[in-house]
Amino acid sequence: MLSSSPFLPTFLLLLSLPILFLFAPRILSPRQVPISLPDELDDLALFQNASSESSYHKTWSQSHLSSSSSAYPSSKFRLGATNPKSKIAFLFLTNSNLHFAPLWERFFGEKSHHLYNIYVHADPTVKIDNPKGVFQDRFIPSKVTQRSSPTLISAARRLLATALLDDSANAYFAVISQHCIPLHSFKYVYHTLLDPKLPKLGQFREFKYRSFIEILSNESTLWDRYNARGENVMLPEVPFDEFRVGSQFFILTRRHALLVVKERRLWRKFKLPCLRVESCYPEEHYFPTLLSMEDPNGCTHYTLTRVNWTESVNGHPHTYRPPEVSPALIYKLRQLNSTSEYLFARKFSPDCLDPLLEIADSVILKD
Ligand SMILES: *[C@@H]1O[C@H](CO)[C@@H](O)[C@H](O)[C@H]1NC(C)=O
Ligand SMILES: *[C@@H]1O[C@H](CO)[C@@H](O)[C@H](O)[C@H]1NC(C)=O
Ligand SMILES: *[C@@H]1O[C@H](CO)[C@@H](O)[C@H](O)[C@H]1NC(C)=O
Ligand SMILES: *[C@@H]1O[C@H](CO)[C@@H](O)[C@H](O)[C@H]1NC(C)=O
Repeated sequence: MLSSSPFLPTFLLLLSLPILFLFAPRILSPRQVPISLPDELDDLALFQNASSESSYHKTWSQSHLSSSSSAYPSSKFRLGATNPKSKIAFLFLTNSNLHFAPLWERFFGEKSHHLYNIYVHADPTVKIDNPKGVFQDRFIPSKVTQRSSPTLISAARRLLATALLDDSANAYFAVISQHCIPLHSFKYVYHTLLDPKLPKLGQFREFKYRSFIEILSNESTLWDRYNARGENVMLPEVPFDEFRVGSQFFILTRRHALLVVKERRLWRKFKLPCLRVESCYPEEHYFPTLLSMEDPNGCTHYTLTRVNWTESVNGHPHTYRPPEVSPALIYKLRQLNSTSEYLFARKFSPDCLDPLLEIADSVILKD
């Protein structure tokens, strides 16, 4: 008789409510990929190799036996004018196909191959076409990456370390995503970063070669993001008044790339998983916080990668679609101020490739 009464189903339903309530947050929140010990050890070995000064000296002197560079003991003096063959390392960080490979192909062109290197970190759990041309065989040993987790910091550091080890002529390191496009020619980018007309020695040069990285301290969400791993967890390594935010699409000098791959202290905290995923963007904090603590005057505090944050959805900036692509848009996106222009922009949807290629030679890559 009991089974036919409406009482039991109602009772069971009521009983299940608190149980649902208890587990719902875990079921609903996206799962984070923890950084495993073997992955951590792999990275450590790579970073130790990249930061070993002795191997650096060796590769440097092997490829650059010029008397002027060997006279200077510290790496910052090796950049730029005394070495006309300084290169820019383009570090592509992606978890999908490189949609704009044909545009980048035109950007790099045929005459500049001795002035750049390309490195691609592609999430190995996603099937990605290995493009021909300049991207061919430029894929580095990669690991899984996930939004709202420290895996994006690891991926960027892996790219920096690989590029440091690979070529001692890599002088600047630019992190680029698959949604980024160039706003200028390679020649323009090269001359903006490594001006060959600069005086050869002196403080002016040291000052000139700064990292282009956004470093902000006045964002309204900063306190929530600081406590995303739990209250006061970042202490003592990172006091709140030293916590910074900025875009992960930056351009670092060789000196700062080395500093980043050598770093262990802040990483101990930044690698911890977040308790609140909605406030968890470790890659937007680790790099600006570290460089702001270690060398604020060596950084511009602004980025050269333009992004449109008006009407952002779910932490994503505005994504440009084909009808928006026009010469006027490119000119608008370049504008920074009277002395500087943006070099790159994001985010563009993959189907913007054709309209972008149409204006590549006449607008984007025209100086
Ligand atoms: C580090 O360098 C050593 C010696 O050159 C090499 O055998 C090893 O494979 C390197 N490890 C990584 C992860 O780069
Ligand atoms: C932060 O400061 C910059 C530069 O002073 C300013 O342009 C920006 O509007 C400020 N942002 C907030 C959220 O206060
Ligand atoms: C930024 O995005 C908004 C839409 O979210 C658009 O109206 C505006 O024109 C964009 N700004 C630029 C400079 O493209
Ligand atoms: C250009 O803008 C950047 C970032 O806001 C600023 O640091 C720099 O001083 C500006 N330069 C001039 C000449 O206004």
